[in-house]
Amino acid sequence: MDNLAGNTATKDAVGAYWNAAPCGTRDASSVPVSEFSKELERQRDEREPFIARFANFEQARGKKLLEVGVGAGTDHLRFARVGAICTGVDLTPSAIELTRSRLQSEGLNSNLQVSDAETLPFDDGTFDIVYSWGVIHHTPNTPKAATEIVRVLRPGGRFCVMIYNRHSLVALQTWLVYAAAKGNLTRSFSDVLASHMESPGTKAYTVGESRALFRGVEDLRVETVVTPYDMRIGRRRFLPRATHNLVPARFGWFHVLQGTRPAMRGEKSNSERDP
Ligand SMILES: C[S@@+](CC[C@H](N)C(=O)[O-])C[C@H]1O[C@@H](n2cnc3c(N)ncnc32)[C@H](O)[C@@H]1O
Repeated sequence: MDNLAGNTATKDAVGAYWNAAPCGTRDASSVPVSEFSKELERQRDEREPFIARFANFEQARGKKLLEVGVGAGTDHLRFARVGAICTGVDLTPSAIELTRSRLQSEGLNSNLQVSDAETLPFDDGTFDIVYSWGVIHHTPNTPKAATEIVRVLRPGGRFCVMIYNRHSLVALQTWLVYAAAKGNLTRSFSDVLASHMESPGTKAYTVGESRALFRGVEDLRVETVVTPYDMRIGRRRFLPRATHNLVPARFGWFHVLQGTRPAMRGEKSNSERDP
């Protein structure tokens, strides 16, 4: 019933959606860019306060970091602030321009470019860390993007990727609104999410499907996180944080996947390296 292969959104449609307004900017309006940037950071901390635990910004200091799908650039800014050697890509010029101007307003640098997660323009083994938060479920060929993330990591390098969870409260709510309420009980969660969740063709994965995307990596961990989006009415009314405890963890909207590119024979992995 939830057949991800049936997803036919084109990359142009995905790009057009995100280029119109970089992710997370619709509820922010301050000028100049330094104030706008602070507003985006405040919102980020309110809505996704758990990111720091996964992104592990401090650990990226001095490391070659690639962020795939920078969006409005809030996490990228934080990697740059701690002294990571940053590279960032996004499918859309507007995300790259906004991220660049936010970095410039703080005198920070990154090698930022418009590129496609499915065909990353970097040699094998280029980066120590690849980070991608809420991106590869939007691209038509998600398995290709996952393969690219591992390819550009050096052996022993680590990735952190967030993708949506299909067996979640958010998916159920979306289905109730767009399928059940219209009497279409046979419509799948996947079909409803592809049509009504952010850019056209958005996908969401079970734990097993998530693991399959990164088959072959070392220490693969999938953690499911309950988010403010799970306890929201409409787009902007978020229920108090205490209500998040009512949602069993496995029904949270975010799967966070972390793992290590296997070291080649005779090569040291991250955990064996000198600090
Ligand atoms: C939900 S936003 C997330 C942005 C940012 N990582 C964040 O957490 O706010 C999704 C982003 O993925 C980008 N994106 C979608 N498909 C992509 C692809 N094939 N290659 C690179 N970026 C892509 C979009 O342009 C958009 O900026």
